[in-house]
Amino acid sequence: MNVGIDRLSFYAPSYFLDLHKLAAARGVDKDKYVLGLGQERMAVPPPDEDVVTMAASAALPIVEAGGAGDLDLLIFATETGVDQSKAAALFVHGLLELPSSCRAIEMKEACYGATAALQLACAWVAAHPERSALILGADIARYDLRSPGEPTQGAGAIAMRIAANPRILAIDPEHGVHAEDVMDFWRPNYREEALVDGQYSTRVYLASLVSAWERYRAASGRGLDAFRRQCFHLPFTRMAEKAQMRLHRAAGLPAPTPEDLQRILGDSLGYNRNTGNTYAASLYEGLVSLLDTCPEDLGGARVGLYSYGSGCMAEFFSGVVQPGYREALFAARHRAMFDARIELDYQQYEDIFHLALPKDGGEHAFAQYRTGSFRFAGLSQHKRIYEAL
Ligand code: CAA
Repeated sequence: MNVGIDRLSFYAPSYFLDLHKLAAARGVDKDKYVLGLGQERMAVPPPDEDVVTMAASAALPIVEAGGAGDLDLLIFATETGVDQSKAAALFVHGLLELPSSCRAIEMKEACYGATAALQLACAWVAAHPERSALILGADIARYDLRSPGEPTQGAGAIAMRIAANPRILAIDPEHGVHAEDVMDFWRPNYREEALVDGQYSTRVYLASLVSAWERYRAASGRGLDAFRRQCFHLPFTRMAEKAQMRLHRAAGLPAPTPEDLQRILGDSLGYNRNTGNTYAASLYEGLVSLLDTCPEDLGGARVGLYSYGSGCMAEFFSGVVQPGYREALFAARHRAMFDARIELDYQQYEDIFHLALPKDGGEHAFAQYRTGSFRFAGLSQHKRIYEAL
């Protein structure tokens, strides 16, 4: 019996900043952001959007398509949690009116959390094949203004239905993991912005990739030629090129040509290039981008997947795209969402950046911006108020 991703939906906020504008404001050559990092636009969540509203908006099409009847496990992976105690999954559980028989929990390990959730859910479904699980991954990537990480900011959410005999991607049982206690990127509870040792973080990402890959190769007996396409965690899209080149070196293969890189990676990068880093959602945003936009029918193709969360946890795994997968995608919906986005000017971006949540426990109603199907309407006595639109 195969287990894996049966439905896959992505959501990004309605607002974005063009990185040419950020480069101009910072006095940086625009090619550094667009060519050097491979980023064109960053998604900017408005003040009435957070990880809960983004994740609920990502999940809604799956629930509307009838994917909640047999649901008994909801795992929300995020490193942008909204409460130290209550799982963000429970807010989504309420907004989507999920059955009270469905467990709802939150999971954290930086950008790796959704992969841990996916593997746990696959094991859960393998033990209970008549049941399904819903995995959410949502984050807001936020660094200090004028820091090197600023052009890699972003926001977005992924939702995946995990089921037996999946329509999109059957997850292979083999995997290779690398865990190590390092301080490459972290988010102290008392800070709004992430701290990062940027160049070091890219070296740890690549060293962990080699370690995870070697373990995957030993477990599966597969070489790189087993994969028709490759998806990587994408802090910025150029990172995928560096990763693919490192994999070739680790496998003892000649360096890939630019044409090889375009074929193996190209279609997986389009969405991230236009949203920026989405942390827990990022690898799966790359997978949606690949499946939605690749002109070739990938039915039957094996895809390699590399998940990396700073701190750090890394995992190399793979899956086989299922014949007829296109009928289970939400590609037209994703296209319409990207087409409808609204561009911010630099000052609007900075104004939104400086807005802070009130902490006085009073009554606060937030101005209404354009969001998905849900909004973070305000605060009342330290409680978050959400609205379905
Ligand atoms: N034209 C074309 N390219 C240019 C250029 C120009 N005018 N100017 C610079 N470049 C190139 C550089 O040569 C470099 O390319 P190479 O890596 O191929 O040499 C690229 O643009 C970036 O330049 P720098 O390395 O000088 O950039 P930087 O040091 O200012 O910032 C960064 C890069 C450290 C990654 C920074 O963006 C950062 O801190 N980002 C946040 C941390 C991060 O994303 N880490 C990734 C690994 S950790 C992870 O994956 C978890 C996670 O999600 C956070």
